[in-house]
Amino acid sequence: MEPEKKMGFLKRAKTKTAIQINSVMALVVRTLLAKYLSHQKLEKLDLTGKNAIITGSNTGLGKAMATHLAEMNATIYLVCRNLEKAEVAKADILKSAPNATIHLLQLDTSTLENCRKFCEKWETDGGKPIDILMHNAGVGSAPTREQTFGPDGFEYLYMTNLLSNILMTYMLEKFFAPNARVIMTSSPGCYVGGISSQFETQSTKQSIEKGFNYPDGQKPQNSILYSNTKLMQLCFAKNLMRKWKLEGKDYVAHAYNPGYAASEFFNKDGVHDTKRKMDPIWWILKNGVNLAMPSSEGCKTGVMLATSQSKKVAATGGRLWERMKTRTCIIDLYDNKLLDKLWTRWCLDVGIQWDLIPKELLSEGSVDGGSTIATMEK
Ligand SMILES: NC(=O)c1ccc[n+]([C@@H]2O[C@H](COP(=O)([O-])OP(=O)(O)OC[C@H]3O[C@@H](n4cnc5c(N)ncnc54)[C@H](OP(=O)(O)O)[C@@H]3O)[C@@H](O)[C@H]2O)c1
Repeated sequence: MEPEKKMGFLKRAKTKTAIQINSVMALVVRTLLAKYLSHQKLEKLDLTGKNAIITGSNTGLGKAMATHLAEMNATIYLVCRNLEKAEVAKADILKSAPNATIHLLQLDTSTLENCRKFCEKWETDGGKPIDILMHNAGVGSAPTREQTFGPDGFEYLYMTNLLSNILMTYMLEKFFAPNARVIMTSSPGCYVGGISSQFETQSTKQSIEKGFNYPDGQKPQNSILYSNTKLMQLCFAKNLMRKWKLEGKDYVAHAYNPGYAASEFFNKDGVHDTKRKMDPIWWILKNGVNLAMPSSEGCKTGVMLATSQSKKVAATGGRLWERMKTRTCIIDLYDNKLLDKLWTRWCLDVGIQWDLIPKELLSEGSVDGGSTIATMEK
């Protein structure tokens, strides 16, 4: 593949400075003043006939997004690991949107097998067209602090917050309606996460991946593990946009940062019991939750991205969104080589063969089709 055009030194330096300034603004100012920021305006559209799947939607940001979408008449699929909690959420949403159609589906995203079965069931139940797929379920720690790996052998947060998104998007894509949206709830953590070019392109089950921002190969603080998964969600959205553009599909993928939102997230085991020295970031955030904004406010950018018909919004798929705007972030400096490698690694971990670059393009133009791809990716 022809090497992509390198970013000039000056542009890179400028982007780096912009990223640093924006990261400080996002982490210190927009996070700690979250409650006092102005309200974001959300356009109310008519989504009659549209199907929206939202994972982790029995509470917090997921439930808030489901409520906004139900108020716009979308048919809602609340996808939750605990159906009793989902029933309570459904009753609450119906108070705001009494005529809404809401279905409950069970899924615990912490294993590949669960995600696979969920998608297979979607198909056997009729395979309804999907207009909006929101990957929102997420955690800030494994169920116990001592636990590092989930049942599949992957680091727990990497599986629950990221690999589930990848497998489900892969398996559900065939049901996507025209102009479908895939939205991931990322986090301010994407300003803190990092991926070195040294990560393995082989699976590293039962071990912590050094190249994924965990330098000494030891389990780092939960907030660092978490931040990395949230940065990778952004990388996944960017790769999906590259892929769909090359394939001529009109689907759009976005990852957005909701900011600091009051939710049960900070009461969960592994976060609420954090001591200051163990994990200063989780400690500050779980103690400062009074400063957080309500979930109904934090989720608005996600709802806008899922529903906006603006071509400009669609064209920015794969960039970081926060408070209704795109923001500079480290992903703006990641080149396609790194993104290609990440894709290879994720597919290997998930156990799928999913071409990032369509095969027919790889054999077109030059030996590896590089020039064609480079032109199309501009
Ligand atoms: N709150 C914030 O400040 C903030 C900031 C940035 C990003 N986020 C992200 O926003 C998303 C929603 O978080 P939230 O703040 O709304 O927290 P929350 O209130 O704890 O909601 C998280 C949701 O995810 C579900 N979930 C967790 N693990 C799951 C699993 N293995 N399988 C299926 N569902 C699972 C939870 O189900 P249970 O109720 O059964 O636990 C819950 O429905 C997460 O991805 C989080 O990383 C939050």
